[in-house]
Amino acid sequence: MIEPRHEASGRKLRFEIFRYNPVDPSSHPHMDTFELGETPYMTLFIALHRIREEQDPSLQFDFSCRSAVCGSCGLLINGRPGLACHTRTADLPDTIRLHPLPVFKLIGDLSVDTGSWFRQMAQRVESWIHEKVPFDPKAQEARMDDDLARAIYEGERCIECGCCVASCGVANVRPQFVGPAGMNRIARFMMDPRDERTDSEWFDVVSSDEGVFGCVGLMACHDICPKGLPLLEVYAYLRRKMLAKVMTPLAREAEPSKRQSSKM
Ligand code: FES
Repeated sequence: MIEPRHEASGRKLRFEIFRYNPVDPSSHPHMDTFELGETPYMTLFIALHRIREEQDPSLQFDFSCRSAVCGSCGLLINGRPGLACHTRTADLPDTIRLHPLPVFKLIGDLSVDTGSWFRQMAQRVESWIHEKVPFDPKAQEARMDDDLARAIYEGERCIECGCCVASCGVANVRPQFVGPAGMNRIARFMMDPRDERTDSEWFDVVSSDEGVFGCVGLMACHDICPKGLPLLEVYAYLRRKMLAKVMTPLAREAEPSKRQSSKM
């Protein structure tokens, strides 16, 4: 059998990891401590694998791609949401505390169910192209301006890791809040010229305090997003659109009285 080689780089890391199995009545939430020699270029993903392989095979955590693409490995790293595969231990202190992401349903230890949350969000905001005319397979492909296509693609880069939602103060206390990932999804379809939902229809989805006006502007989501999505701009775009929807009829109503007063 070939022994795995782990060249230590000097530091001994101490991992304090949240443990709890919600389906086991004998389990209770607590922290377990593990020690590991740091190796060059070690990520949290590598460290967690080594802990599971060498010290505790029952440790639960999620991963798939190892390259910040699948969005599975989100967790709290010393209190801050991040991706295990995208975080180098060299950037962290000797003691590393790991917790599961809040907001999402806990599966066990560091593993959470982000899928159910994102599914209910997608259903609420109806995140698919709404066309009013029936699809014509013989019609020419619709052309799209390059800059607009790039802006839509920017929104599509979300990997649904849940880090922005976990970092959001409002999402943590208000379960119905659509959250930054939901706002990003809404903006993506609102920008898309193929989606024929009117501003009034969008207003019903976005404008309550469960939508864009529920955000209190802490903007941790913008700082945390591992893909660097411009969530600050997303919120500003949605607010501008919704305010324009409210203000335009008010301005029209004000118009005749302005004329009357100018006549006086
Ligand atoms: S394992 Fe896929 S994003 Fe980290």
